This record gives sequence, structure tokens and C-alpha cells, in this order.
Amino acid sequence: MKISKCLFPAAGYGTRFLPVTKAMPKEMLPILTKPLIQYGVEEAVEAGLDTMAIITGRGKRAIEDHFDISYELEHQIKGSSKEHLLDEIRSLISKCTFTYTRQIEMKGLGDAIFKGKVLIGREPFAVILADDLCINEDGNGVLSQMITLYQKYKCSIVAIMEVPKEETYKYGVIEGKEIEDGVYMVSNMVEKPEPSEAPSNLAIIGRYILTPDIFDIINKTKPGKNGEIQITDALMSMAQKGMVLACRFKGKRFDCGSVDGYVEATNHLYALEKDKHI
Ligand code: G1P
Repeated sequence: MKISKCLFPAAGYGTRFLPVTKAMPKEMLPILTKPLIQYGVEEAVEAGLDTMAIITGRGKRAIEDHFDISYELEHQIKGSSKEHLLDEIRSLISKCTFTYTRQIEMKGLGDAIFKGKVLIGREPFAVILADDLCINEDGNGVLSQMITLYQKYKCSIVAIMEVPKEETYKYGVIEGKEIEDGVYMVSNMVEKPEPSEAPSNLAIIGRYILTPDIFDIINKTKPGKNGEIQITDALMSMAQKGMVLACRFKGKRFDCGSVDGYVEATNHLYALEKDKHI
């Protein structure tokens, strides 16, 4: 079955960016002139997906307004020298349908994904965590690479990258057997282990392809790390019963959930796109 939907958990408070996230969703933080979540939507569209299922919460309405037409603005800007600045977002909006539901309480990433069941139905889907900005200047985006792999194996897939061992406590970490170049069959998965307990230094980053049986599995998953329902734990159950793959993707990933990663992403993209912004 073709994957057409991409889920974006976007209900978190963004506390690491306070005070800017007090009244503004962290997903709307700009990297140059585009908000973080727009990079995620562009990556999904590039991978051939056309329905964006966004899990929001209180104070997140700016996301819905961003992916909509602003009639006042269109009227003001029409025929002016600035009109072209809206071209990119207009074209993106015209290619997708946006659907929304709210996560009422913050009970973890697994719970946020579970809330998307109503928008996804019973079909395989992708998940993008907009905080993890991924860029592959050499070709296909990360999600696109994962979709290609899904077409071959038809199972759930997580994106992974190597991290320094002392940083495993920030990530879900996998263990597995490499079955083809950069593709691992997952045998173990631990959410945010201390370096001494980490099964490897292969960390999950915010891109997933999930088969729809994940919803029943999440529903049966008990709270794990930090008392939250973890998608890592649900995927571990899935791996024990069937097959989950991990894909070491090609490209760069920036942790835009941290100030360091955010500044790094901004500088990187500015260097690439300088001419456009002068
Ligand atoms: C989440 C996941 C974690 C994953 C990370 C990637 O953690 O729970 O397994 O490694 O995203 O960014 P978070 O960073 O939301 O705490």
C-alpha cells in the first residue's frame, strides 16, 4: 500500500526555548525565513506524501494559520515586489491536505502518535519530528530514503545515526544485525539509556515509517522512561513479534530542539542559501 500520510507530533511545550515558546509554538521557530515545521512538510512532499496529520495542543494555532491562505496579506501584497516571497508556501499548500487533532495531556511521544489514529486510519504512515531538521544536499531526503526501503521490506522503519557514546541518554538506541549496507534488523531498542547501558551508539532520530498495527501495540504499552508512553517501547514489542528495521540515512541532521543545533542549522542553511537572502 502506498504511503500518503505523514504525522507530525507538535503538541510539546518547547521548554528548552523559553521564553520565546511562551506564546509561540516551537515548530514555528524560523530557520532563515521558514518555520521549522515547513522544512518537515517539504521533506514529506518530496517523499511523495500529500496528507499532513498534525497533532497539536493549546497555543498552537499559528501552525494552522501558516498552512492556510491569509486573505488580508494576499490582498496587500498582490502586484507588489514582495509577492514572490509567498510563492513557495503557496505551492506547498496547494500540494497537500492538512488535518489536525489535539493531544490534551502530554503523555509522551507514543501517546502523541496514538492520538493520530483518527487521522491515519489503517494504513502505513510516516512520522516526522520537526525538531530534527534533516538535509541531504546530495539527493533524496531522509523520508524518501526510508520510503524506498519500506517498498522493499513492508515493515516499520526507524532512522538512525551514530552518536558519541556519551550522548546515548538523549535518544532511543537500537541494537541489530546489519542485513544490507546501512540497514539493520532491530533486536533491541532502549529509550534514552545511560552510556553504560546503551546497546550501541546507533541513535534513533525523528523519522519513522510505521505500520498501522502500531496503534494497538501503543494502546497496550505501559508508561516507560520518565513515566511517558514511549514509541521506542512500542516498536520494541513490534520487533519481538515481527520485524522492525533501522536505516542509517544519508544526510545531515540538526537537533533544532536545542539552541546549539538550532544555531548550527541556521548557519548551515544560510551558507547554502546566502544569495537568495541578500
Ligand atoms: C524522541 C524519541 C527518541 C528519539 C528522539 C529523536 O525523544 O523518544 O527515541 O531518539 O526523539 O529526536 P525526544 O527528543 O522527543 O525527547
